Amino acid sequence: MGQRIDVNNLNIYYGSFLAVEDVNINIDANKVTAFIGPSGCGKSTVLRTLDRMHEIVPGAHCTGEVLLEGVNLYAPDVDPVAVRRDVGMVFQRPNPFPTMSIRENVLAGVRLNNKKISKSDADDLVEWALRGANLWNEVKDRLDNPGVGLSGGQQQRLCIARAVAVHPSVLLMDEPCSALDPISTLAVEDLINELKKDYTIVIVTHNMQQAARIADYTAFFNLKAVGQPGHLEYFADTTTMFNNPQNEEAERYVSGRFG
Ligand SMILES: Nc1ncnc2c1ncn2[C@@H]1O[C@H](COP(=O)(O)OP(=O)(O)OP(=O)(O)O)[C@@H](O)[C@H]1O
Ligand SMILES: [Mg+2]
Repeated sequence: MGQRIDVNNLNIYYGSFLAVEDVNINIDANKVTAFIGPSGCGKSTVLRTLDRMHEIVPGAHCTGEVLLEGVNLYAPDVDPVAVRRDVGMVFQRPNPFPTMSIRENVLAGVRLNNKKISKSDADDLVEWALRGANLWNEVKDRLDNPGVGLSGGQQQRLCIARAVAVHPSVLLMDEPCSALDPISTLAVEDLINELKKDYTIVIVTHNMQQAARIADYTAFFNLKAVGQPGHLEYFADTTTMFNNPQNEEAERYVSGRFG
């Protein structure tokens, strides 16, 4: 099952630069929440604090709380590596490991976690994850071929299979369709819609139609001015965000009259 995320008073820094200011948001379990907003407003930065990837950048840190099912990911006794296992991330460009086969790509996260796994358990896991990513039928006869030999859309679904293979409770996706053609995009959107049965999903997108199609809730991030920190301007269920937003900036943004 997916887990809920509650973000309280989150301030996110790169060194001394405050990139995103005072974010408060509640992200429902087993729903799709979209992050939208102009470039540089901090969507990716906020997303990366939800699995403690942000702090991998030297000097980057944050204050405030991110609660995963009530447990603060930033409590001193929490191991960031364990967090990244619980919370899967899919990136903008599909990034299968170049030297690995399709099969080994799916298993890469599991192997990183140093889990010993028998051949038959591995076979079952590969099939389960690839079915879950809606890719099994396309690749089942060539599992030992290189992952990078797949089309862009197939590679992105392979990366989703790799992320779900470690059984995360949350899937974070940063513009997962921006490098894909329209047909692959729809395949990934269908998949996201199915995955929310099992996962809590947060997706960053610049595509308003995509947010309207797949998100249950939408968070609009904004910038007061260049050089100022980004902030969460308005949060609403997706129907309200796109049809009747109670925020002027959000209304201008979703109707394409921004800037
Ligand atoms: N590694 C980094 N080091 C320093 N500053 C960074 C770093 N990454 C992002 N920033 C800054 O943090 C702010 C938010 O950037 P972020 O990438 O989160 O925006 P975004 O909303 O995802 O934009 P886009 O839509 O272009 O992807 C920007 O001012 C950006 O320049
Ligand atoms: Mg970004």
